[in-house]
Amino acid sequence: MAEKDNNQESHNYHIDIPVKNEPFALRGSNSLEWGMKNRLSKIFHPATGRTVMLAIDHGYFLGPTAGLERVDVTIVPLLPYADTLMCTRGILRSTIPPTFTQGVVLRASGGSSILKELSQEEIAVDIEDAIRLNVAALAVQVFVGAEFEARSIHNLTRLVDMGNRYGIPVLGVTAVGKEMVRDAKYMRLATRICAELGASYVKTYFVSEGFETVTSSCPVPIVIAGGKRLPELEALQMAHDAIQQGAAGVDMGRNIFQSGAPEAMIQAVRRVVHERMSPREAFDLYQALARQET
Ligand code: 5RP
Repeated sequence: MAEKDNNQESHNYHIDIPVKNEPFALRGSNSLEWGMKNRLSKIFHPATGRTVMLAIDHGYFLGPTAGLERVDVTIVPLLPYADTLMCTRGILRSTIPPTFTQGVVLRASGGSSILKELSQEEIAVDIEDAIRLNVAALAVQVFVGAEFEARSIHNLTRLVDMGNRYGIPVLGVTAVGKEMVRDAKYMRLATRICAELGASYVKTYFVSEGFETVTSSCPVPIVIAGGKRLPELEALQMAHDAIQQGAAGVDMGRNIFQSGAPEAMIQAVRRVVHERMSPREAFDLYQALARQET
């Protein structure tokens, strides 16, 4: 009998199988604690380590910009295709169905409108409210080189301290003012500052020359903003080039929700980001899906 128990025990304990101790694959995140990693896994798809974030937070300084006049009508149908939604708490509470279970990246800075100096922001969300909303990350604008540079960087560091207390990652969003040159040198400076000061990941703009030096010198993942609306093929090409040069995904707004066929566009962007589909193939897919959408 004792012999039988021993056999059973050694079977149940799987003593011949080494205990799994898998590293967390996301760049720069292996030393984070469990809650942070779990939240980051709601942003970066565990199968690819990349993300399609749908950015719809523009209203926090722009008001009802084109494509976001009726979030319930234009954005809610896109949600099934987004790994993550980036929005304000006002839109989240008023308009996003609480059945949305992917990650929410909460816009956590604000204070100036398009009519004033944009870099004059403050932290605009209490950490308790972010926890109440069950968010996956907090997003803060960082205005390197702008009039209120130090204040915006201080917003980032305070949010990082608050986020670290509760296991909530912070996304540093590099905002490029009109007077700044959008080149790799500037993006390297701005993204590295965000990472050095504790951002779990950083959002920046793609630059056609030297973008791989931006991703390689940033120790945490980089996602790219889409920027102003481009023809769909160009937007897909930009997403593709960014991924090829080390970006971990896109945080795309206008190039999706202002597209001729937003549902088709977000599906095409997904294929580029997660499957490295070529821009041409993704554009063909976009056109085929767009015919069904319109
Ligand atoms: C606004 C933002 C936006 O989320 C960001 O610009 C992404 O949207 P788009 O792709 O339209 O540029 O951070 O400050």
